[in-house]
Amino acid sequence: MIFHKGTHILFNGISIINIPPYSLMFWCFTLSRPIIISTQNIGLGPLIDEDLDRLWIWINDKEVTQYLYLFNRMYTREMEKKWLENALRGSENNIIFAILLLPEKLHIGNVGLHNIDLINKHAELGIIIGEKKYWNQGYGAEAVRLALDYGFGVLNLEMIFLRVLQFNKRAIRCYEKVGFRHQGRIRKFVLRGEKWWDLLIMDITKAEFYKIHESIISKICKDSFATG
Ligand SMILES: CC(C)(COP(=O)(O)OP(=O)(O)OC[C@H]1O[C@@H](n2cnc3c(N)ncnc32)[C@H](O)[C@@H]1OP(=O)(O)O)[C@@H](O)C(=O)NCCC(=O)NCCS
Repeated sequence: MIFHKGTHILFNGISIINIPPYSLMFWCFTLSRPIIISTQNIGLGPLIDEDLDRLWIWINDKEVTQYLYLFNRMYTREMEKKWLENALRGSENNIIFAILLLPEKLHIGNVGLHNIDLINKHAELGIIIGEKKYWNQGYGAEAVRLALDYGFGVLNLEMIFLRVLQFNKRAIRCYEKVGFRHQGRIRKFVLRGEKWWDLLIMDITKAEFYKIHESIISKICKDSFATG
């Protein structure tokens, strides 16, 4: 008989696998989360309550937040809890997806469409992969691609833009790979140590996006997206 006891899976009283109970709980939570849109490697799904401690660690990790404007702040668990509660309540203007590594649905970051303007049909993209070991493996580009497909295909946006700090070469390359184009520069936007850095503006239109990428959302919703 197999059962879970403390940190061990027992088979006829003999420990066969040593799993901390927390991992087992984490595994259950991650598997139970719905996926809204996905590639082979990456799915986007909703945030859930259980994400709180992970988010709290990411937002206080200076190696991660050096690339964001909120670098200068320190976040208590209470502050992060309020942020998550807000995200969980949802809003018409901001959609935040959990980036889930498939097939385990491991939560490695978030990608969002912010300041969504449904009249003028634009939004601003933001992304963070908090689990640093997953940087540089193409997952950021896949998550951005999915968020854009959602923005253009589901929300019917016409243009999505983003702001990125000049020294964030990895992010800039990631955005260029997906099809974002450089549109502008605001000089001396942030001060880090003794050095001033510019802020770059990039954007992509719906037509430009679907010229490069197949629509995943129209495959999922093939009856309602049927042409002719
Ligand atoms: C930015 C971020 C989302 C990108 O995700 P990612 O999965 O690491 O990105 P990808 O692997 O899809 O693409 C990164 C590209 O940058 C390249 N790259 C990495 N470091 C680089 C550097 N110093 N200079 C130039 N290119 C670089 C990688 O080689 C890769 O390009 P390639 O696929 O042509 O080889 C992720 O790294 C992250 O969350 N960083 C911290 C937070 C952040 O910067 N958020 C964005 C704020 S605007």
